[in-house]
Amino acid sequence: AVDISNLRDQTGYVTLDRGYKNTGATQSAITFLDGEEGILRYRGYSIEDLASKASFLEVSYLLIYGELPTQEQFNTFSTGIRRHTLVNEDMRKIFDGFPVNAHPMCVLGSLVNAMSAFYPDSQEGKNTDLHITRLMAKLPTLATWSYKRSQGHPTNYPKNELDYIANFLNMMFALPVEDYKVDPVVAEALNVLLILHADHEQNCSTSTVRLVGSSQANIYSSIAAGVNALWGPLHGGANQEVIEMLEEIKEGGGDVAKYIDMAKNAKTTGFRLFGFGHRVYKNFDPRAKIIKKAADDVLSKLGVNDPVLEIAKGLEEAALNDPYFVQRKLYPNVDFYSGIIYRALGIPTNMFTVMFAIGRLPGWIAQWKEMREQKEPIGRPRQIYTGSTLREFKEISQR
Ligand code: ACO
Repeated sequence: AVDISNLRDQTGYVTLDRGYKNTGATQSAITFLDGEEGILRYRGYSIEDLASKASFLEVSYLLIYGELPTQEQFNTFSTGIRRHTLVNEDMRKIFDGFPVNAHPMCVLGSLVNAMSAFYPDSQEGKNTDLHITRLMAKLPTLATWSYKRSQGHPTNYPKNELDYIANFLNMMFALPVEDYKVDPVVAEALNVLLILHADHEQNCSTSTVRLVGSSQANIYSSIAAGVNALWGPLHGGANQEVIEMLEEIKEGGGDVAKYIDMAKNAKTTGFRLFGFGHRVYKNFDPRAKIIKKAADDVLSKLGVNDPVLEIAKGLEEAALNDPYFVQRKLYPNVDFYSGIIYRALGIPTNMFTVMFAIGRLPGWIAQWKEMREQKEPIGRPRQIYTGSTLREFKEISQR
């Protein structure tokens, strides 16, 4: 890599790289990704090892602090999180102001940003570890509020004797009228999904977090910006789009070929096969491989027969045998099968991207922290101006 950060001063030229397809904006020691070989590692540990052997909180610690925690470090980290799961009751008033059918991603982004009003020392750059703990602790609590209200149910307070994932599931699904027991198959599946989503180097939402944070905006506002960037259908919002697309194919009688044809004519139809293609993976997305297998395992263990799984497999097979997809190296990405698992776990479609946000949170935090510790300059891309040259101002009466 060549550092061209002062190219303009030296030559008078600006590089134009729309979508930053080949522009590195930082040096980072967090996530290694080789898109040609389909390799993904967090802090040097393979995604396959972490997904099969670690807990989401261990991986979160690894991403944020650089090493896998010792037992003592883990206890301190997880106890701190348990102690901060409650959300200030005044946040509820903000939440209550949203329409009942507000999209949960809109609510989440707004509430995370609102946290900066409750912890104003974050804007002074103080007590960063405490703010990190609060974010990790409160995001699952906030995430469950929208779901509970959409069901017309009272929200559940956290139960801090439960671990991170069980606590989330309890806040989501427990009803005051009956006992709720966390199914270990569900908890394990969620653990794997959250780990697979935990970081992915300089993707759109993470770059947004770093860019907003580079102005020295506080950690809550920076992470809220990441939530908002994640919502878009070309990024984390794709998991919701995938299920809606698969449902539509099912309703239409399962005609996979029609959708392949529409996607091949993306330029005229404007239709893209959601869950397919990736900016950096030009080989199989290693996360998709793990998720595809997990989808089979989880559905069979839970005894769920979801016809969209077969449609997804049919779509994948048809795409992988079609020259359009082969030539463009378009493979299933992390979002292609994740929604099928979320659905089997009882999570509604409009919450899928929220689940992604819970998973991605430690990655955003780690990247924000690294950016601040590296004392990176404010992010400020250049442009090539294409507007008018100097024009003469006319008074409004003469226009
Ligand atoms: N369906 C049909 N055609 C596609 C698709 C798709 N899903 N993805 C890319 N293409 C085609 C493009 O039309 C383009 O064709 P062309 O060479 O004839 O012009 C070519 O493949 C390259 O596509 P780009 O848009 O240049 O690739 P880019 O790297 O900018 O986009 C992206 C990557 C946004 C992920 C894209 O593949 C896409 O829109 N996929 C669907 C949405 C999706 O699944 N997003 C989730 C990504 S993973 C994540 O964010 C967690």
